[in-house]
Amino acid sequence: MSDFPELTTKAAEDGAESLDHRLIAEPLDYILAEHHRQRTLCQWVDRLAAEPALDRRLARLVAQHIAREMTLHVIDEEEDLFPLLRRRALPEDQIDKVLGLLSGEHAAEGRLGREAVDGLLDALERGDVLLSEEFRHKLRTFSAGQRRHLAVENAVVMPIAERRLTRKDREGLARRMAARRGISLRGATCD
Ligand SMILES: [Fe+2]
Ligand SMILES: [Fe+2]
Repeated sequence: MSDFPELTTKAAEDGAESLDHRLIAEPLDYILAEHHRQRTLCQWVDRLAAEPALDRRLARLVAQHIAREMTLHVIDEEEDLFPLLRRRALPEDQIDKVLGLLSGEHAAEGRLGREAVDGLLDALERGDVLLSEEFRHKLRTFSAGQRRHLAVENAVVMPIAERRLTRKDREGLARRMAARRGISLRGATCD
């Protein structure tokens, strides 16, 4: 039995598609859905790291997801969600320290993510190459960091966001996330 039973070709291709943009009208749901996809991404990264031979299709999917979707997601959090939370959270939420730690991780994971993308694109360009142990270690470090980061965001940040963000906050968040992706929210509602 495969170590990655959920990673069929179809699942990988479905997972690589952009999320349904209509979901942005409920921006916290959209962020949670992106977190779910990032968990799948971690499985893909671990699979790439498991052996030196390059799975070209998977390498392309991982590089695309990190370079495009994850970059947008971190901007959503850094420029919109985290500042909103700092404004709305109550002292008892004790969110400032957690957000500071998560921002530090965004920077560190961003650097690792860029190294992962560069390494994968380079391997794809060079053709039939074997991934070095050093690079595979870097991939595992990236996925382990992402999993820890996601666990904290899902367990601590998102529940506070659900409790504290007003309807107006959510509408503004939805507009900014949609604009960042060049899409229109017309016809979508935030009910
Ligand atoms: Fe996140
Ligand atoms: Fe994050």
